[in-house]
Amino acid sequence: MTEQSNSGSNRFGGKMSLIDDAKAAQARAYAPYSNFRVGAAIRAKSGHVYTGVNVENVAYPEGTCAEAGAIAAMVLGGDREIAEVVVIGDSDAPVPPCGGCRQKIREFAGPDVCVTMVSRTGDTRTMTVAELLPGAFTTDHMG
Ligand code: THU
Repeated sequence: MTEQSNSGSNRFGGKMSLIDDAKAAQARAYAPYSNFRVGAAIRAKSGHVYTGVNVENVAYPEGTCAEAGAIAAMVLGGDREIAEVVVIGDSDAPVPPCGGCRQKIREFAGPDVCVTMVSRTGDTRTMTVAELLPGAFTTDHMG
């Protein structure tokens, strides 16, 4: 859950992408119970990038998802508007955010924001927030 610059260069001299950021974070996941390590990277509208990892707990329900960590880092960093999200997991298929994380992302992202899901082998699938969470509960429903 660290703030990183998305304008830096990687060790090969190339421009860092949000996928690189999520992958770098994933290596720090704490997942001793599921062995399923997840990394998330959020680019805020300000341009700042925030990352998070899943942090599991021996009391299983107390574990937290990578997206939740990245969102917490973003809010602490002073950003509240998500421009783009990447989630990467040790899965054969691009890993989708869980239901709870879709609602957490929606709190800070408009329906057209893109979420890119990445597999272990680097396959990607991109969907909008509205596609991931149709009919989302928003403040409009509290009127
Ligand atoms: N996990 C995430 O970090 N994000 C998701 O959206 C899906 C699931 C984590 C939670 C748990 O540590 C592990 O993946 C297995 O469910």
